[in-house]
Amino acid sequence: MPTKPIKSSFVVVANRLAADRMVLPDGSSDWRTSPGGLVSALAPVMRKNQGAWVGWHGAADEVVEPFRYDGLQLVPVPLSSDDVRDYYEGFSNGTLWPLYHDVVEFPEFHREWWDAYVSVNRRFADMAAQTAKRGAVVWVQDYQLQLVPKMLREQRPDLKIGFFLHIPFPPVELYQQLPWRKEILAGLLGADLVGFQLPGGAQNFVRLVRNRLGLQTQRDRIVHPDGRDTRAKAYPISIDSRGFETLASEQSTRYRAEQIRTDLGEPRTIFLGVDRLDYTKGLKQRIRAFGELFAEGQLDPQEATFVQVATPSRERVEQYRTLRDEIDRLVGRINGDIGTIGRPPITYLHNSYPREEMAALYRAADVMVVTPLRDGMNLVAKEYVACRTDNTGALVLSEFAGAAAELKQAWMVNPYDINGMKDAVLGAHRASSAERSRRMRAMRKQVFEHDIDRWADRFIADLTEISQNP
Ligand code: F6P
Repeated sequence: MPTKPIKSSFVVVANRLAADRMVLPDGSSDWRTSPGGLVSALAPVMRKNQGAWVGWHGAADEVVEPFRYDGLQLVPVPLSSDDVRDYYEGFSNGTLWPLYHDVVEFPEFHREWWDAYVSVNRRFADMAAQTAKRGAVVWVQDYQLQLVPKMLREQRPDLKIGFFLHIPFPPVELYQQLPWRKEILAGLLGADLVGFQLPGGAQNFVRLVRNRLGLQTQRDRIVHPDGRDTRAKAYPISIDSRGFETLASEQSTRYRAEQIRTDLGEPRTIFLGVDRLDYTKGLKQRIRAFGELFAEGQLDPQEATFVQVATPSRERVEQYRTLRDEIDRLVGRINGDIGTIGRPPITYLHNSYPREEMAALYRAADVMVVTPLRDGMNLVAKEYVACRTDNTGALVLSEFAGAAAELKQAWMVNPYDINGMKDAVLGAHRASSAERSRRMRAMRKQVFEHDIDRWADRFIADLTEISQNP
């Protein structure tokens, strides 16, 4: 019997659902929470608004009926293997991802990838149109779905449509490389409100709309020929700060953090990195910096250790496979050259862990090292701060992460400058506990005053206001 279509007055549309279909070694399948910051940021917002979440369930060639997962109503959008290759791995992650991240890897431009992007965006828009009640708020997420706002508005002008870009919006000079630059701008302009992580992204967007599409703009306002407005503003995303704090305070987490320290051989200092295994995260530079610090004797492997968690990601995309091999080699060489029995300077974990384990790792780590080459925000930095309930710990942070605009008391680094990064790591390591605590207190204030609820409430309040008073 076909299930009744889900109808909701709050709909989130994202490439991924909150849950991912995975096939187990015995051939059976199960669900697990999807990777990445987007899902961890949106899940609490969805629960609060009792919304429906339209997205791909992570498996190709499989049609799945709407279902509930962890208190969320999920509406799966099917993708064929060709869609996964051309829309997801191709245009989204082979073209847009590197282009929007400062071209740290070369973007590829293929017309068949673009065609797939258009047709899959249409499928998401159709599913969102079917799911949204009359006058509903529909909030479209991220670079994979930039055409959805326009496609949705054409079908459903009654909706309040918002769009939020989780990754950086590139400088005008880089964006112009895109053969489909006008189509993407027009796609985003279907929204009433387009949100960016930083004011610079919103400004780049408004400038492009003015120059490329010839539309009138006034500061953050774009005026359409039919009199409708689109606003472009910054909404720096955050985390469920209280949730992380509570988790970090639990006895089981404290016990697990102690156990991690013991398992690592009771080092005096634990440095920690946590990232998706992605070339934008600056892993090679970071590991090289630690390799040198250990080799030069600035850090003693008998006393200090560096733990790097690298969550598997986009494993069929060529650049990600190459990166994995490079990291494997780099870590192997450093540990082989410097390590002694039971004391590898680097503990490298290619795995993803539940929130509970992450909270324990954050508690165990004396210095958190977050050094992406470019990052929209970086929620790991905020999670670490939220988990330092006693104001201890230090954060080393790339100035090219969106979070740097808010966590100003971190030890800032330019991740391309290996010597500078080494100095910052040592600076954080050697700082007095008073200095660390002063900085941590200020960062915690920021993270608790600007949490995920505030981010979502601000966006939704602005969207509602703008779409009521066009
Ligand atoms: O935050 C950027 C982002 O691409 C999200 O849109 C995405 O869910 C997450 O990173 C993980 O990436 P992927 O969905 O490609 O595994």
